[in-house]
Amino acid sequence: MKFIKSLCAASLTALSVAQAGCVMSGGNYYCSETDAVVFSNVGYSGSYKDVTSMDESSGVCLQDTVSFSGSLAPLDEELSVHFRGPLRLLQFGVYYPSGGSSLGKRDNQVQEEPCEETVQSHKHKREVAVEYVQVTSTVYVNNKGQPVTSSVAQQEAPGNPATDVVSSYTFVNTIVTPSTSATPSTGTSATTVLTGGRAGSSSPEPASSSSIVSLSSSTKSSASASSTSGSSTSGAWVRSSYFQPGSASNCVFMNHQGGSAGSGVWSAAFGNSICYASSDGVSGASSAQALGDVTIKSGQEYMIFSGSQCSGNDCGYYRKNIPAYHGFGGENKIFVFEFSMPYDTAGSGYNQDMPAIWFLNAKIPRTLQYGKSECSCWKTGCGEFDLFEILSPGSDKLITHVHDGQGSDGTSTGGGGTQDYFQRPTSGTMKAAVIFNGSDKTIHIVKVDDDFDAQLSSDVVNSWLQKSGSTAALA
Ligand SMILES: *[C@@H]1O[C@H](CO)[C@@H](O)[C@H](O)[C@H]1NC(C)=O
Repeated sequence: MKFIKSLCAASLTALSVAQAGCVMSGGNYYCSETDAVVFSNVGYSGSYKDVTSMDESSGVCLQDTVSFSGSLAPLDEELSVHFRGPLRLLQFGVYYPSGGSSLGKRDNQVQEEPCEETVQSHKHKREVAVEYVQVTSTVYVNNKGQPVTSSVAQQEAPGNPATDVVSSYTFVNTIVTPSTSATPSTGTSATTVLTGGRAGSSSPEPASSSSIVSLSSSTKSSASASSTSGSSTSGAWVRSSYFQPGSASNCVFMNHQGGSAGSGVWSAAFGNSICYASSDGVSGASSAQALGDVTIKSGQEYMIFSGSQCSGNDCGYYRKNIPAYHGFGGENKIFVFEFSMPYDTAGSGYNQDMPAIWFLNAKIPRTLQYGKSECSCWKTGCGEFDLFEILSPGSDKLITHVHDGQGSDGTSTGGGGTQDYFQRPTSGTMKAAVIFNGSDKTIHIVKVDDDFDAQLSSDVVNSWLQKSGSTAALA
């Protein structure tokens, strides 16, 4: 998510948002606090570029075009769930409709696999690859992605989507290797400046307690592809994956320390792969471990896959010698979270005090989440969905945004979001549910109070849907 921020082709203008009473802070617009955001008309027919091979010695990645269609596409594909500190996770769960079947649901228990990588990981044990992104400043670009001055940007007429306000990001790739290694010398670094930014279609409804975001659709026929009938989502939902500190069922915690501790790989070309995370969330491990009750710091990240290991070609291509697991697939699924995001004012590093929770198309981390764009499908729009994201250091406003090719096929610059925000839970915890509905092409993100039991009744889920105030939930 943070490696590149997309430009949004037809997005808000500074003036139209300002007129709605929204405020700009830290380079981003914020409107009203909300307890629910409902995305409607999610899904379209399009394509993205899938990685088909990665050469660890040359750094070359090859890609092939894949097409998709249907409700929620491509967010109906398998998703991995990503977390960045400062953050403490108290519960995580995934539910599917009872009687349904979806990837990620098949196994009941975490599979604790032995270390898959021995020789290489030990060889590179002391090598560290660091890849990170720094937010450097706010810049203004026109709709061709060219920088313009702020005064030019401000002169754009309301409603004119020609100008977007973005932040500029500097992508820094530093690879440090031990002196005994034949791989690149210590301190080798490459710096690429990428321009990107947060944008989003605005739906300024300052008085409303929920926000409805409509994504433009490139086809009108894509809603019919649902293979599950609407009635399957009206029954009970069964929890197929669940985490509480110290206990993980059918979910596997990973991070980006591949090659450091007995799982995953490292190469000069691609850096560290994903690998099993240790219970501290921060270091690597040789086998799956449940995360403990930990508060990870600013900039630290881990992710969750299902407990179902990829086998044969059923995950598509992934980087060799990584622990590869399925994400959470399907167009009807509910994710639940309980978390806190305490302030972290101690440091000043990259992503300081900018916690986030987001989904990625699970293919992205299984190839390359941070690095060359042709080594993952991200740039071509295979899907990112920011659930709760702090956009500037120390902010207490969590923003929600879909980044995919919808409305902008073949790039990650489509999608949409809202400038309304959830209040960041800095002292207490926040519980939330994210409800994917393939029948009506909606995704609801709702703040909730209920327990996340082994089953969810349709009454509970309906109360979540209604709480959102969304018309789609009542249809
Ligand atoms: C999904 O949408 C259908 C059609 O609008 C609706 O009947 C059903 O209640 C919804 N279910 C959920 C879980 O959102």
